Amino acid sequence: MAILLSGRDLARRIEAEAKERAAAFGDEPPGLAVVLAGDDPASRGYVRSKRKACARNGIESHLVEMPPDSTQQAVLAEIAALNSDTSVDAILCQLPLPSGISPSVVASAVDPSKDVDGFHPMNVGRLWRGEDCLLPCTPAGIMRLLSEYGIKPEGRHAVVLGRSTIVGKPMAAMLLAANATVTVAHSRTADLQSLCRSADILVSAVGVPGLIRGSWVREGAVVIDVGTTYVDGSPRGDVLFEEVEPVASHLSPVPGGVGPLTIAMLMSNTVRCRAGRGARGSA
Ligand code: GUN
Repeated sequence: MAILLSGRDLARRIEAEAKERAAAFGDEPPGLAVVLAGDDPASRGYVRSKRKACARNGIESHLVEMPPDSTQQAVLAEIAALNSDTSVDAILCQLPLPSGISPSVVASAVDPSKDVDGFHPMNVGRLWRGEDCLLPCTPAGIMRLLSEYGIKPEGRHAVVLGRSTIVGKPMAAMLLAANATVTVAHSRTADLQSLCRSADILVSAVGVPGLIRGSWVREGAVVIDVGTTYVDGSPRGDVLFEEVEPVASHLSPVPGGVGPLTIAMLMSNTVRCRAGRGARGSA
């Protein structure tokens, strides 16, 4: 029987810490700007949750809504304005962006010191060089979750399923920085099942419900489920819970595992961006 890794409890604690740090800025609280371009209903929901989290933690949120037919130039103009707005400490451009807008061009336009997602090439480079930087929220939350439960990646084989810029690649970099031996697998990887069975720590971020079966997991492995796919209105993870739970030593459930940590880390990163900017008058 696996120990369930509760992201909910940890997220509450991370938010409480962010709230306390935010309050210390008095009448110059941290400010997070969210750019929402397009009308993707899931993105709308995520942005609503992020703004609610700001409100409950004493962080000012600014919403920049843009229509689905927005041009890349228009998005870049909004980002340039937010870069020079001294009341904005942190900028998040919600993905996915409407077709025709390059997420990498947009990420590169954000001031690296306001890059709360850690997607700017300077922060990505620093992460891979093992330097201090703003870290992408979901994998940073997973590292906190591992640490919270006393799971040490050092010397262990970590297999990361998925190579996205948001989760897979930064997750691999963070596990590597923690001295794990890391393999990144993806849709073209041969014999995924055998590779997964060789993992001491398996992180799945592919969005294929039930992909990870019990037979894919080594006895006693740590399994982190980052997939959240809505099937008939209910969230489903990449891991087939009922088969994997008896085999794994630790397992993050869906919902209630990794999910709540993303927003908590966003709050924490926003406070960090604010702290890096000092008093407003000196900006
Ligand atoms: N869309 C899904 N996850 C994320 C995230 O972590 N950051 C941004 N900006 N967009 C997302």
